[in-house]
Amino acid sequence: MKTILLVDDESSVVESLRLILKDSYRVLSTLSGKEALKILEKEHVDLILLDIKMHELNGLELLRKLQPFDHAFGVVMLTAVNDVKASVDAMKLGALDYIVKPFGVEEIKITIEKALQFRNLSREVRYLRSEYKYPSLDKLIQGRSRIMEEILDIIARVSRVDSTVLLRGESGTGKELVARAIHFYSARRENPFLVVSCPNLAGDLLEAELFGHEKGSFTGAYERRLGKFEIAEGGTIFLDEISEINLPLQAKLLRILQEKEFSRLGSHSVIKTDVRIIAATNKDLESMIRESRFREDLYYRINVVPIHLPPLRERYEDIPQLAEHFFNVFRKECHAKMECISKEAMDALLRYHWPGNVRELKNIMERTVALYGNEGALTHKHLPVEITGVSSLNLQQVKSDKTGLISLEDEVARVEKRLIEQAIQQSGGVKSKAAKLLGTTRRIFNYKMQKYGITDTEN
Ligand SMILES: Nc1ncnc2c1ncn2[C@@H]1O[C@H](COP(=O)(O)OP(=O)(O)OP(=O)(O)O)[C@@H](O)[C@H]1O
Ligand SMILES: [Mg+2]
Repeated sequence: MKTILLVDDESSVVESLRLILKDSYRVLSTLSGKEALKILEKEHVDLILLDIKMHELNGLELLRKLQPFDHAFGVVMLTAVNDVKASVDAMKLGALDYIVKPFGVEEIKITIEKALQFRNLSREVRYLRSEYKYPSLDKLIQGRSRIMEEILDIIARVSRVDSTVLLRGESGTGKELVARAIHFYSARRENPFLVVSCPNLAGDLLEAELFGHEKGSFTGAYERRLGKFEIAEGGTIFLDEISEINLPLQAKLLRILQEKEFSRLGSHSVIKTDVRIIAATNKDLESMIRESRFREDLYYRINVVPIHLPPLRERYEDIPQLAEHFFNVFRKECHAKMECISKEAMDALLRYHWPGNVRELKNIMERTVALYGNEGALTHKHLPVEITGVSSLNLQQVKSDKTGLISLEDEVARVEKRLIEQAIQQSGGVKSKAAKLLGTTRRIFNYKMQKYGITDTEN
């Protein structure tokens, strides 16, 4: 049953309305606007019938105070015949409709039903719009390995605060995706999310990009230009590969983080800024600090919440879900009739070591579906040779670059080396386990590792 709140300082009006409505709705009522606000804090209300003229806090003032409730309920005004102007003002403030007193029973019932229907529809549209713009976190970020669960949990937490985040991880592990997710689940979501790729712009250009410049501040600055920090006001800036920022610019960035202010190039006036910074790097910032190439104080400022995105080869459990996900995305996109990924194909995906991480998996799925989408299933035959490995090697693919002839020895060595590397990864660096995987002895395994110059990091 829907709840209607009656707000009118004439008790006779309230009583007659209650009589009309009480059988179809739960009816709450009050004679004062202030009291109405208190009720709304505590009660769920679907619709308010609000008198425009009240002594203490009139209907229009109350309507203004209701704005923060943000469409939680609909409002229909009750007005006198000679007060159409006030009704129009009320509609501008978000009232759905108005009823002129004295009113007929049928008229009031119909108006209320219409208003309730309208409110439900508009809520649905708002919800659908927000769903469309912001898919839920677990649709956006795929993979449910334990480590990814932890990362999702951290994303949800840091979205609620404004701390600087430092994302680390190899290329293609999802750093930018996570930065977007943090922004879109934060209170800043309606404001811009801007990406600044630091390696793409050298020195001064990067500075102008970030902070903007005044006309004539350097050759080529023909007019004033706003920087990313001004454009992103209220939003988030993603500084990709922050290690590439030179030392003078690092100092300016530190100022933004500490004082929340900056100046355009060629100007001394100070501009205040409210922008969240999320940074990413694939470099060893700690050793850059030791070599005085990265400021330690800046490092501590950006490293407030570090998030490490592990390479795909350290979370094999995620591969099936990611593969299916991209398979479905591209299948829809290409209107492909391909129905599933075969078991052998999935096994091959699981054996591969994914140097390009999720991006590589995504690209391979896109390519395979685009090329073979009209076949029944994605089988290992459709996958590129670097993934299926030995089984699908053919003579065309093993010709030596230099001579154009086939070198059996080189090719066997290449395959052997790759198998050893994969075995080490799959056994978590435990060499005896890796040797067993390949059906050889620990001694031979060590010898081959040495021969191919493979170094293990873990033990
Ligand atoms: N967990 C995931 N779920 C779904 N898609 C993902 C996931 N991780 C990465 N992707 C997708 O893989 C691609 C690469 O991710 P992204 O650009 O975020 O990587 P990156 O770490 O920023 O790489 P680089 O260091 O090369 O810039 C993107 O298209 C991204 O949407
Ligand atoms: Mg990136």
